[in-house]
Amino acid sequence: MNWTVRLRERLFGLAPWDAARISDEWFRAHFDYAADVVHQWLAGSGLDVRTARLLNFGCGDGITDLALVLRHGATAIHGVDIRREYAKLPRIAREQLGMARIPAALTFETIAPGAPLAGRHAGVDGIMSWSTFEHVQREQLLPILRDLHACLRPGGVFFLQIEPLFYSPWGSHLRRYDEVPWHHLLVPEEELWRIIEAHQGPIAADEVDFGFADFGVEGYKRFVFKEYQQLNRLTADELVELCRQAGFAVLREQRGQVDLPLPPQLLQKYPESWLRNNEIFLLLGKA
Ligand SMILES: C[S@@+](CC[C@H](N)C(=O)[O-])C[C@H]1O[C@@H](n2cnc3c(N)ncnc32)[C@H](O)[C@@H]1O
Repeated sequence: MNWTVRLRERLFGLAPWDAARISDEWFRAHFDYAADVVHQWLAGSGLDVRTARLLNFGCGDGITDLALVLRHGATAIHGVDIRREYAKLPRIAREQLGMARIPAALTFETIAPGAPLAGRHAGVDGIMSWSTFEHVQREQLLPILRDLHACLRPGGVFFLQIEPLFYSPWGSHLRRYDEVPWHHLLVPEEELWRIIEAHQGPIAADEVDFGFADFGVEGYKRFVFKEYQQLNRLTADELVELCRQAGFAVLREQRGQVDLPLPPQLLQKYPESWLRNNEIFLLLGKA
């Protein structure tokens, strides 16, 4: 029960943890990098994460949320996701940090895709979303953004990140199997699948999430390829426009670019800005 953990924490503090035990690169990338970026953008907007009520849309395994509590002093983060990867967090925290129980500051919820949240989560101070909006079905983007806008209190902020964007060199999210830049825009889908199917040997450690073990080597290939097929192919401009339509003001924006030679045939089909833009960071506000 969350209240017993809260009481125990009030009396004895958080369970001890030790970052020197971290051995998993996926864990490290979220515990350090992702959490630091989220914190920087939220705190940079003037939000005090130590007192704010936060919502993480598409929280995945919750590692970033855990780091925001442990490393940045957050005290209330509610993670929502359509999958239940966060159920692994107690085990992951035990293995990677030697932490006996996860903080009571963290709560999680499984939702149906597009299920409205504002009825139950109104008045939050800050929202974050990391590498999630490229996975949301197109027709659900605007309703979800409107709903998140309704969750936020006036003056609240929403930090949204996407990387890699679809038209960028590894926008397929398949780089762990195929290093060729823009390959997904150059060859038919069947050829991409053949490359993935034929892949042997280890994949980059920071790209192997904690779901890998559930799927096994071949199952993970099928899972990742299906994820690729379901990407919504959103561009940065489209995202910004949808956020505005949902009622958000863009308070700050940063786009990442990839500096690689472009295949000439792609330049005939797509704007160069789409092909180079691999990342977007957005800080959105509610008036
Ligand atoms: C690439 S993962 C990122 C997870 C986490 N933010 C992280 O950084 O590890 C994308 C996440 O978005 C979630 N997702 C996709 N569509 C969603 C939706 N409509 N509502 C909520 N979560 C969604 C997926 O289940 C998945 O956990």
